[in-house]
Amino acid sequence: MTNGELVALALEARKLAYAPYSHHLVGAALLTKSGKVYTGCNVENAGYTPTNCAERTAVFKAVSEGDREFVSIAIVGGKEDAAHLPICAPCGVCRQVLREFCDPATFTVILGTDRPEDTKVMLLSELLPLGFGPESLLQ
Ligand code: THU
Repeated sequence: MTNGELVALALEARKLAYAPYSHHLVGAALLTKSGKVYTGCNVENAGYTPTNCAERTAVFKAVSEGDREFVSIAIVGGKEDAAHLPICAPCGVCRQVLREFCDPATFTVILGTDRPEDTKVMLLSELLPLGFGPESLLQ
């Protein structure tokens, strides 16, 4: 699975986003170590705070299906009427949820757009330095 293929799956997932309040549509595609992909979209709510981000939708789908080992995630997002998508970095809550299951030194976050040349690739450790993870509770 290439980064470009994972971004393409995130773009497909974005089409299913339920975002009638923000009109900000986000898609994510999470690659497991076994090569399976879990996709997700944001799901908003009239109560606003129950809204779930695309990244967490993908992670929770995977974990609830028994997969906890991940290689990378592709994320795409932007306004529903955008001519071109900007880079859409994951929110702090999603970074923390990824930190629970992913090695920050190797887990790759692929920030995609509709234009392959604009893709930005980062490590989770760059997006969440000095993060608090499961091992933090053992010290
Ligand atoms: N959103 C995501 O899905 N992922 C992020 O990392 C940032 C924000 C969604 C949540 C909400 O539905 C909309 O984008 C505006 O915040």
